[in-house]
Amino acid sequence: TRRIIIDTDPGQDDAIAILLAMGSPELEIAGLTTVAGNVPLDLTTANALKLCELAGRTDIPVVAGSIRPLVRPLVTAEAVHGKTGLDGSGLPDPTTRPVPGHAVDWIIDTIMAAPEGTYTLCPLGPLTNIASALVREPRIAPRIREIVFMGGGFFEGGNTTPAAEFNIYVDPHAAHVVMTSGIKLTMVPLDVTHKALTTRAWLDRVAALGTPAAKSVVGMLDFFERFDMDRYGMTGAPLHDPCVIAYLLKPELFGGRDCHVAIELSGEHTLGMTVVDWWGMAGKWGGTDRPKNCRVLRDIDAAGFFELIYQALQRL
Ligand code: BDR
Ligand code: CA
Repeated sequence: TRRIIIDTDPGQDDAIAILLAMGSPELEIAGLTTVAGNVPLDLTTANALKLCELAGRTDIPVVAGSIRPLVRPLVTAEAVHGKTGLDGSGLPDPTTRPVPGHAVDWIIDTIMAAPEGTYTLCPLGPLTNIASALVREPRIAPRIREIVFMGGGFFEGGNTTPAAEFNIYVDPHAAHVVMTSGIKLTMVPLDVTHKALTTRAWLDRVAALGTPAAKSVVGMLDFFERFDMDRYGMTGAPLHDPCVIAYLLKPELFGGRDCHVAIELSGEHTLGMTVVDWWGMAGKWGGTDRPKNCRVLRDIDAAGFFELIYQALQRL
């Protein structure tokens, strides 16, 4: 089994990612750390607790983290996720509490206490907690097995500005810290997640499971798909964050390349853009030799991906 820390801002698609991980025996979730993103921190933390209750996994520690991005003011996404961040889930307020302390400390302590290479980090929201942990305790970097995160978009463009995807746009400075950390990185951008669209047939199959988790999933996704359908004319809901977990479970469902990726921190129109050197142009026309610092995914076997989630939901 692989031990993971999920850093998250639930979020309906974060929720499906968490349930996918909970329903996959190959993964052991050490903790859910929360960050401000889709909605403010108190709500993302409450939502993480609700999901643990739904899955009967209140043994998993939930630790609240950063209340705002490193430099910029917080931008939230209630238009996408609803006021609670988890609209449509039908979940009541949680009855459990987060563990005391700050997620940044928890991440550092957890990684430092384990043998090198134990933990894989799965950030599903703005990278504020991960960057803060790296700045505060750089010795965690070589101890992290790898980081697989949802964020960015290159060929597909952005979903928050024409150039920037939400998670990177909210905290581009944190993304820069992670991108330049030297840790093994895999980026799951919109180029992939916009090909991971729910279908009615799949939702009907999930509904037929009839379990509380399945009901909640269908309710959440019915709510979630409205935004991208209305706004971008997509059919179905893009399951962004579950792609991170699916990649850990079945990397063969995805295609990509190792590239240099830079985060735009100063562009007037491009703040938070993930500038991917897909074609390996660095160094050819007078550029410097920029290292391939990140695996960038671009393709997905959507049928295999949705089957994976279905099977995990069956196990919950
Ligand atoms: C990302 O932004 C959030 O709204 C989703 O949860 C996902 O992590 C997609 O751009
Ligand atoms: Ca998210």
